[in-house]
Amino acid sequence: MAKNTEELLAGAKKHLLKTYRQPDFVLARGEGCRLWDTDGRQYLDLYGGIAVSALGHAHPALVAAVAAQAAKLVHTANYFYNEPNAQLASRLCEMAKMDRVFFTNSGTEAVEGAIKLSRRFHFARGDAQRLGLVATLNAFHGRSMGAVSLTGQPKYWEGFGAPIADVSHVAYGDFAAMERRLNDRTAAVFVEPIQGEGGVLPAPPGYLAGLRALCDRVGALLVFDEIQTGIARTGAFMAWHHEGVQPDLLCSAKGIAGGVPMGALLTTEKFADALPVGAHGTTFGGNALASAAALAVLETIERDGLIAHAKARGEHLLASLAKLVAKHPTVAVAARGRGLLCGLELEKSVDVRGVLDGLRARGVLVSSAGTSVIRFAPPLIVSDGELDEGVAALDAVLADLSTKLEVKS
Ligand SMILES: Cc1ncc(COP(=O)(O)O)c(C=O)c1O
Repeated sequence: MAKNTEELLAGAKKHLLKTYRQPDFVLARGEGCRLWDTDGRQYLDLYGGIAVSALGHAHPALVAAVAAQAAKLVHTANYFYNEPNAQLASRLCEMAKMDRVFFTNSGTEAVEGAIKLSRRFHFARGDAQRLGLVATLNAFHGRSMGAVSLTGQPKYWEGFGAPIADVSHVAYGDFAAMERRLNDRTAAVFVEPIQGEGGVLPAPPGYLAGLRALCDRVGALLVFDEIQTGIARTGAFMAWHHEGVQPDLLCSAKGIAGGVPMGALLTTEKFADALPVGAHGTTFGGNALASAAALAVLETIERDGLIAHAKARGEHLLASLAKLVAKHPTVAVAARGRGLLCGLELEKSVDVRGVLDGLRARGVLVSSAGTSVIRFAPPLIVSDGELDEGVAALDAVLADLSTKLEVKS
């Protein structure tokens, strides 16, 4: 029952909820950093399924692990331990430098788990009034009612009723504002080491260390949302490893299983008893198939030196983007990021969607972040040559834009 592109598009448009703005082509397969649509057109993938496809597409290690596990055991639910999950728990904790983990199916669920664990930790110590959650403006933590309440951007909660109680926001990077906001009713502080969706905005130097000391002082948990920055993306296995500022809770997802849905909430021994038997759970979390995929991803990251690779390729990418800023000063404002999470900020007046369309017409897929940032989050296996190809396409799109602007003025 093979369908042609037109039929596939007609079915998708008729039956999918209209939550996404999707262009008129259908992706069919991938290999490395390349994707192909149902009409055979090829694309260079420099968005990595939004920082997810850590090993690129159809990586032999991931293919073999998923196929072998699917043939053995897919799912048992958490009534019982399963073999790949037991192995993964140790491996992930070791690499992340944390002690314990609760597996989820998405980043949002890891954040939701962090909300519940932090509140319940205080409850178990007889401090049931400590419910306050402080997050940062312009943050992104997910879209469930709890996670979306932490997401510091009103456009994400409009129309959904009141956010969950006892949540507030302060400006990202503003330590003094955080210091004023925290008190003996604060259960936890949520922060991204780099605001990803918000526009690839790294925390200012010393901010995370300051938050660590502040949370210790007021007795609040420090939660790092590393859903976008983790799993080698920034050139360290977790972004917090760069500065050695350890959180109490760590949310991970995206690249963890290379595209097979999985997330993780990690913590240290101190908080291990906050969620006792029955307090939290999920049917699919940590199932054998996703765990085998994650094991293959972690093993490949280690075996192929992908942390160092991401760091080196990221430096190359950032330097190339900085050159675009120098070359196209009327349209490009700044290049920033770390490792393979980089952004090029465009002038406010530039139509970002038009830039993405221009890149796609040249066979390059990237995504936007914030209101005016072109974000690169390619597979960790990307080469300098592939990055150069993407930057050359962006160069051409920006050159066209600059010319149009000159003609106008
Ligand atoms: C920092 C951060 N937190 C949470 C999420 C939500 O993760 P998911 O879409 O897997 O639920 C995202 C997704 O983009 C993210 O970037």
